[in-house]
Amino acid sequence: MNNDARLPANLRIGVIGGGQLGKMLIEASRPWNVKYTVLENDAHCPASAVADSVLQGSLKDAEAIRKLAEDCDVLTFEIEHINSDALLELEHAGKTVIPAARALKTIQDKGIQKLFYREHAIPTAEFVICDNPSDLASVAKSFGGGKVVIKQRTGGYDGKGVDIVAKSAIESGSYKSPGPCVVEHFHENITEYSVIVAADRFGNVVTYPLIEMYFNPQSNLVEFLFSPAETTADLEADCRKIAMRAVQALQSPGLFAVELFVTQNAEVLVNEIAPRPHNSGHHTIEGSYTSQFEQLNRILLGLPLGNTEMIQPSAMINLVGAEGQNGSYRLKHTRELLSEPGVYIHLYNKAEIRPHRKMGHITVMAETVQELLEKAGKVRGWAVFE
Ligand SMILES: Nc1ncnc2c1ncn2[C@@H]1O[C@H](COP(=O)(O)OP(=O)(O)OP(=O)(O)O)[C@@H](O)[C@H]1O
Ligand SMILES: [Mg+2]
Repeated sequence: MNNDARLPANLRIGVIGGGQLGKMLIEASRPWNVKYTVLENDAHCPASAVADSVLQGSLKDAEAIRKLAEDCDVLTFEIEHINSDALLELEHAGKTVIPAARALKTIQDKGIQKLFYREHAIPTAEFVICDNPSDLASVAKSFGGGKVVIKQRTGGYDGKGVDIVAKSAIESGSYKSPGPCVVEHFHENITEYSVIVAADRFGNVVTYPLIEMYFNPQSNLVEFLFSPAETTADLEADCRKIAMRAVQALQSPGLFAVELFVTQNAEVLVNEIAPRPHNSGHHTIEGSYTSQFEQLNRILLGLPLGNTEMIQPSAMINLVGAEGQNGSYRLKHTRELLSEPGVYIHLYNKAEIRPHRKMGHITVMAETVQELLEKAGKVRGWAVFE
């Protein structure tokens, strides 16, 4: 790959997946006129609005991924559920794949991911891998407390494939095993944080300020987040250090989101790593000197990493379909939202709304965290479709 850090980079980038993450990655590259091709089943995917071309095909199809590689200098992905063996082969053949296929393989299987944390002494919730459904009751029994968390090893996303289950329901047989899974200790009353970590191809690694996240209990989607988090400087430093260590252990360039739990005893645990831009980093588009998407563009093009500091405290509110919403949609309070200074609307170019479908997000900025939380409270009431 061309290591000459000059623009225009004249590199063609291929993205496996054409969802909203791909769309925002391409949008961030526009000032630099980077050429992007996305691989996606649906020719009208969110990223199709901004990509230079869409290659139609399955993200699991090795042939389709090889075809994308033929047309592109650098490959990346915006979703984990893709054919990582095809990427591994392309890498062996000399293609630049960022993040590395090996890092993706570690993350794709939650069992392998948890073993990786153990091997590298990265703190994580206590766990047992359970591949045989008939062992589930005895495995669950070996944990303290009344509940356990059961996570499918592969294929889960956005909380799907994760169940918080009473041990009694497993013992009585009313809970059915999802197949090969990771059984985890259930930590009650955790606070959830995320740290975005950027690693370039030359060994430099930087972190973004700590992000505090709130989830919708029904859909398990991030509903609201803000940064910097309301916590002590010590805890923030701890979280950033652990997140950086987890990403360094992967030994791969890329843009990563490290999801963290802080337990009631103020213990920091790594929940999981997403090897791509993440919903928890969307506020960086307006809120940071370098957004998570620009940062990934820099990494893909071999350019220097950008400043991760925030311009102002920022929050993000997800715009999702409500129960019963289907078909066409309009953002109900567009006028109010656009009349408010420091409020930015992002829509993902999805043809139809569906319950719990991520349709867009709103960034809110303010001078202080307190002002931000007040403003975001008001804006949350306007974050609905009709
Ligand atoms: N060990 C645990 N103790 C307590 N809560 C947990 C535990 N593991 C997961 N959870 C809860 O379940 C949510 C989803 O878990 P996890 O992030 O592992 O799954 P996921 O489907 O990959 O999520 P996503 O794709 O939305 O990031 C977490 O954000 C957290 O709220
Ligand atoms: Mg998660």
